[in-house]
Amino acid sequence: MLVTGASGNVGGAVVRSLIAAGVPVRPAGTDPVRLAARHPELAPVRLDLHDPSTFAPALRGAAGLFLVRPPAISRVGPTLGALVDAARDAGVGHVVFSSVTGADSNPLVPHHRVEARVRACPSWTILRPGFFAQNLADAYREDIVAADRLCLPAGSGRAAFIDTRDIGDVAATVFRDPAAHHAAGYTLTGPEALDLDQVAAVLTAELGRPISYRPAAALGYAAHLRRAGLPMAQVAVQTVLHVGLRRGQAAEVDPTVQRLLGRPGRTLAEYVHDHRDLWAVPAPARW
Ligand SMILES: NC(=O)c1ccc[n+]([C@@H]2O[C@H](COP(=O)([O-])OP(=O)(O)OC[C@H]3O[C@@H](n4cnc5c(N)ncnc54)[C@H](OP(=O)(O)O)[C@@H]3O)[C@@H](O)[C@H]2O)c1
Repeated sequence: MLVTGASGNVGGAVVRSLIAAGVPVRPAGTDPVRLAARHPELAPVRLDLHDPSTFAPALRGAAGLFLVRPPAISRVGPTLGALVDAARDAGVGHVVFSSVTGADSNPLVPHHRVEARVRACPSWTILRPGFFAQNLADAYREDIVAADRLCLPAGSGRAAFIDTRDIGDVAATVFRDPAAHHAAGYTLTGPEALDLDQVAAVLTAELGRPISYRPAAALGYAAHLRRAGLPMAQVAVQTVLHVGLRRGQAAEVDPTVQRLLGRPGRTLAEYVHDHRDLWAVPAPARW
């Protein structure tokens, strides 16, 4: 299986789950040397979504394609769309696209257009995950480490955070029996919906220092992200998504992960426990 975004949250989890399931895997990304350092037992390939000349060599002989949209790519037609078409033309058996909750009915998100291209393939599955637990280690990490706080414009909204390790396990389940999952769209959430005060309590219990939640105003949050250096498009998306939490947009717990994996999804507390070093405060310098 060719796995795009293999150095990222979702693609990295898919690579690890496929290895654990004994499914042959070829990680792909813009820097195969870095991928090889991470997985010396595999043979990573270069695949740059902005360079279509890399598509055919990466796809050669692949039984399946796992596709994830890098957050910085919003022009999906000539990039992800072209790769999906190339996979179809190359006779790749099954395409799995990791999209986002609600993308099937929301033409404003770029994933919507990728989904349409994926559905034109002979055999495909679309995964639609909700908020990632891994946001605690990406977008939220600096505030947690530097200021012991979560600062988000989410009000008292809740999110059914999913651990991307479960997305990896679902993808491996699909690739083990693609015919059973052809033309399916799976909404993937974690097993419980937590508000940000509860997320802060999980962090406090695990890290042994008080972490608090400070609800932010949307504009203040956007300015905060800009100061942190995020491109404007990502600032807008991240702000809109978190304001959407106030309206319960990500609060629904979906049973699909449990149904497909035969076990409940990992909780946020499990995720934080397994990665607790990510939020450790650097020890003071010794003189
Ligand atoms: N965060 C959430 O809560 C959430 C929830 C639902 C859905 N999503 C969706 O999930 C996706 C993000 O997944 P993620 O968190 O796994 O992303 P990520 O950790 O930022 O990883 C992005 C991957 O894309 C690769 N990449 C970047 N530019 C590339 C290019 N030009 N060609 C090929 N590969 C490239 C990167 O690898 P290299 O740079 O090494 O090539 C990296 O492995 C987005 O589409 C987002 O909308 C996010």
